[in-house]
Amino acid sequence: MKSILLLTIPAALVFAVATNSFGADGKAVYTANCVKCHGADGKGQTKMGKRLEIRDFTKAETWNSFDDDEAFKAVKDGITRNGEKVMGYKMPDDDIKASIAYMKSLQTTNAPAADSTAAK
Ligand code: HEC
Repeated sequence: MKSILLLTIPAALVFAVATNSFGADGKAVYTANCVKCHGADGKGQTKMGKRLEIRDFTKAETWNSFDDDEAFKAVKDGITRNGEKVMGYKMPDDDIKASIAYMKSLQTTNAPAADSTAAK
């Protein structure tokens, strides 16, 4: 019993710290810069989000379509969507990483989508 407790508590602590391990407040950066397009919930159902046809970032399959480097580059350097330049933030790298980490935490499906019907 005691050993189970000892294993569980550190894991919970690591998880709590991991969401804010960049020294920057990801939620604050996200709220100030990203909500107008991606939405407070990450679903992208804002006026801007709908116009730009932003995918639902609460879905694991969205996150699985790019890696951390690509996400960082897209936010820092910007991307072109429907002929319009979006993102491209001149903010400290740590703020970018923290806001992406916060956005990632908005996922409601944490496990990669296991689509058994598509498997051959
Ligand atoms: C002007 C609207 C707009 C704002 C503001 C915005 N984004 Fe985006 N973002 C987009 C669009 C459009 C895409 C492409 C959507 C898609 O792939 O469905 C995108 C894609 C992304 C991606 C995926 C990148 C990839 O490689 O596909 C990440 C991560 C992201 N945004 C994070 C952020 C963060 C963090 C912020 C705030 C610092 C932010 N965005 C602010 C419009 C915006």
